[in-house]
Amino acid sequence: ANPPRPALIATDKTGFAYTTTRIRWPVIVTKIIDALFQVCHALDDDEKRTEGKAIISSIGALKYGMERDKPLTPIADDSNPDIATWNNIYNTYFSSSTWYTAPWLFTECYLYRRIYTYFARSTYWNTYDPFCQQKEAAFKASQVAMLALAERIDELISSEGLRLDHRIVFHELVQISLWGNASDLSLLSTLDPRELGKLQSTGAEELEKIEKNILRNDIDLFWHRIKDSKGSRIDFVLDNAGFELYADLIFADWLIQSGYASSVHFHAKPIPWFVSDTTPTDFYNLLSALTSNLLNQPSQSLITKLAQRWQGYVDSNIWIVKADYFWVSPYAYWHLPEQKELFDDIKQAASVVFKGDLNFRKLVYDCKWDFTTPFEEAIGPMATEEGVPSVVTLRTSKADVIVGLPKGTAERLYAVEDDWLYSGKYAIVEFSRGTK
Ligand code: F6P
Ligand code: MG
Repeated sequence: ANPPRPALIATDKTGFAYTTTRIRWPVIVTKIIDALFQVCHALDDDEKRTEGKAIISSIGALKYGMERDKPLTPIADDSNPDIATWNNIYNTYFSSSTWYTAPWLFTECYLYRRIYTYFARSTYWNTYDPFCQQKEAAFKASQVAMLALAERIDELISSEGLRLDHRIVFHELVQISLWGNASDLSLLSTLDPRELGKLQSTGAEELEKIEKNILRNDIDLFWHRIKDSKGSRIDFVLDNAGFELYADLIFADWLIQSGYASSVHFHAKPIPWFVSDTTPTDFYNLLSALTSNLLNQPSQSLITKLAQRWQGYVDSNIWIVKADYFWVSPYAYWHLPEQKELFDDIKQAASVVFKGDLNFRKLVYDCKWDFTTPFEEAIGPMATEEGVPSVVTLRTSKADVIVGLPKGTAERLYAVEDDWLYSGKYAIVEFSRGTK
């Protein structure tokens, strides 16, 4: 629990942790309350409604404590397997901390874990996802972009498509998966879902244009690794459901069809997390939504074809979905090698792709690195531990921590935009070779 550099923390009023704690979280929590209120209002079942209202009060009290910087309290036992870990960390390090004085990485994970507890401990709401309405609305708003990608992957895996230059196709697909991360719902909490389409770049030309916004671009290093390890297992540590997940699956589909991967393992979150993160339910819901004519488009047959192929991968264990509780712990990934079972599993992959901002923050321990620190230094044991696979981060930048930048890049950007680190407009693709 000791970061190698000072941790990002909300007591620093100049940092994005402060803005997040003071402004973004109250919005996120209020949205949960509003959605739950509406669901309760429409219910006939009195007992369920009463319990729902009690959850609303608890979440209201949580928000009150957060806004007034009250002390953090232990996580109430909801019989989930991670309770002991959470409260151990809490008791050892943070029992006298408040919402602002504990490191941002801890408090943000703690917020989502606390919210989950209210549902998990209930009788009628224990499988309820408080973010489901937002995820659904965003999914519906993404259909045009999804259709465009279905058409594109259909071309790319045709016999003609597979004869194209694989390096160039790989660049395109990595970028599709990367920019899919621009549409996470925790940062876009005030955005109208109809605006989402503007963030979903899918065309090859458009992608070529925004490639300049990748401030450090190791796509070629990643490509060489994929080529050299042809036919092995590739893992994705997933981030957001909906469009981002769909974009990841497009990439994973091509990896299978082109033979670069023999299987793809997807690591999802076991509980609702950071608003839009993918749970196994989100993953399977996506597949069934695609098969059930949800897009209601003339080109539905194309989507059906893709959905059946994807379902086929799942049925034959070519695609495997997993959800370890480590991914919803407050631990940075410097601690992943200590998780023997999970780490042994991950070591079976040739490369592990970590999607999105939170995964990046956890890889680099969410602390104040110099922006030019090499990626391999900042991920510590995940670069050096014996048998560790190649690690790739595909991240649009939404927090004020970044590493691996060429000298002068940060200075050039600061001169024109103060918020370049967390605007979500810039991205990084960083690669570590690993020790396999
Ligand atoms: O840093 C801003 C933030 O919204 C964090 O709250 C969270 O780490 C992250 O971005 C969510 O983004 P992503 O879905 O890309 O992990
Ligand atoms: Mg996310």
